[in-house]
Amino acid sequence: MLSVACSRCLWRTVGLHKRPVLIAKPGKDRGLHVSSVRNTIMPAWVIDKYGTNDVLRFNENTLFPVIHYPNEVIIQVHAASVNPIDVHMRNGYGAASLNMTRDPLKMKIPGSEFPIILGRDVSGVVMECGLSVKYFKPGDKVWAAVPPWKQGTFAEFVVASANEVSLMPKSLSHTEAASLPYVALTAWAGLVNSCGLKKETCPGKRVLIIGASGGVGTAAIQLLKAWGAHVTVVCSGGAQTLMNDLGADDVIDYTTASLKDQLKTRDLFDVMFDNVGGTSEELALQYLKPWSGASYCTLVTPFLYNTDRMGIADGMMRSGFTLGSKVIKHLCKGIHYRWGFFTNSGPALDEIGEIVDAGKMRPVVEKVFPFSDVPQAFDKLEAGNARGKTVIQVIDLKQ
Ligand SMILES: NC(=O)c1ccc[n+]([C@@H]2O[C@H](COP(=O)([O-])OP(=O)(O)OC[C@H]3O[C@@H](n4cnc5c(N)ncnc54)[C@H](OP(=O)(O)O)[C@@H]3O)[C@@H](O)[C@H]2O)c1
Repeated sequence: MLSVACSRCLWRTVGLHKRPVLIAKPGKDRGLHVSSVRNTIMPAWVIDKYGTNDVLRFNENTLFPVIHYPNEVIIQVHAASVNPIDVHMRNGYGAASLNMTRDPLKMKIPGSEFPIILGRDVSGVVMECGLSVKYFKPGDKVWAAVPPWKQGTFAEFVVASANEVSLMPKSLSHTEAASLPYVALTAWAGLVNSCGLKKETCPGKRVLIIGASGGVGTAAIQLLKAWGAHVTVVCSGGAQTLMNDLGADDVIDYTTASLKDQLKTRDLFDVMFDNVGGTSEELALQYLKPWSGASYCTLVTPFLYNTDRMGIADGMMRSGFTLGSKVIKHLCKGIHYRWGFFTNSGPALDEIGEIVDAGKMRPVVEKVFPFSDVPQAFDKLEAGNARGKTVIQVIDLKQ
C-alpha cells in the first residue's frame, strides 16, 4: 500500500516525473562537458591493496564510471564523508563477501577487485540518467549512500542505482548533506527495520543508545526524538553538551562509573540500540523490559569477519549459528535480539530528508577536509572520539 505520509515516496513509486534528458548539459562551473561518452578518466582516491593509510592513492586517471543498467544515474560528487566502514574496508575487512557481491565469477582471482574507490556517502548533482530513470533528471541535487560492494564516492563522479538516491533536503548545503545518508540509513535500518520503531510506535518508548556521540548515534537520537521517544544515551564526558543539544533526555557518561551500575538507577528500556558491541550486549538481558516486546539491536556483528576468516559458506553458517543461539537465549527471557545492517534505500532517505527539512534533524559535521586530504580524514576517524561526522569536500564550488 502506498504511504501518503511521504509525498516524495509517492512520486517515486508511481514514477511521476518529467522524462529525463539523457545527455547532461556542460557543467557550467567547471567548464566540463560531462557525459560518459566524452569523459574517460577522472580524479579519485583509490586503493590497489589492503593496508594502513599508506595504501590510499590519489589517481587522476581513474576510469570514469559508466551506466551499466537502465536504472542507474551518474552523480557529480560535491561532498562525501568518512565512515568506520571505509577504514575497515581499507584494511581488507569484508573482502570475501564484498568480492562475491561485486563479481562472483572473479571472486577467486586474488586482487581482481582493485582498484577500489572507498567512500559511501555522496551529495551532488545528477549528470546523466539511465533510460528507465523517471524520478531524477540531470541537474537535480541529490544525496545517497552507495553500498560497500560498489565503487565509492571519494571521486569526482559515482554511479548509483536510482533506487538508492534521493532528492537532497532543500535546507542543507552539500557538505552538510554528505554527512548523513550512511549513518541515518544505518540508524533507520536498526531502529525501524530491526526494532519496529516508527513515528506511530515511538511515543512513550524508552530507548537506550550505546555509543551515541558518533555518526550513527547522533542520527539515531534525532530520529527518535522526532518521533517522540524518551532517549537515554551513553557517551564519554566531552559529548554531554552535544547530546543535550540533540535532544537526549538522559545522558550517561560511561567513563565516570561502570555503565551497569549507572543503569541500575534507571527504569528499564523498551529498545537498546548498540553501536559499540562487545560486553555491552550483556546489558540487554538485565535492562530491557522482559516479555513486553522489547528489542536489543547491535550494529557490531561478526558476519563479515566470519566470512573473511572461514570463507563464504562456512562463515555464513557460523554467523547463522551464532545469531540463532543468541536469538533463542534472549527469547527465553522475553527479549528480541537483532543484528542491524546498513541498508541502502532511496525511499527511506526521502523520509529522512522530510524530517530534516521539517527542522527535526540536523547534520552534525565535526570537521570538513578538502579532497586533497582524504588520508588525513581517515587519520581523524581512526583517532576515535568522534563527535558527529568527518566530511570531504570534493569540489570546491560555492555550495
Ligand atoms: N552493521 C552495519 O551495517 C554498520 C553500519 C554503520 C556502522 N556500523 C558500526 O557501528 C559503530 C558506530 O558507527 P559510527 O559511524 O557511529 O562510528 P563513529 O562515528 O566512529 O562513532 C563511534 C562513537 O562511539 C563512541 N564510543 C566508543 N566507545 C564507547 C563506549 N564504550 N561507550 C559509549 N560510546 C563509545 C565514540 O566516542 P568516545 O570514544 O568519545 O566514547 C564515538 O563517538 C561502528 O563500530 C561501525 O563500524 C555498523
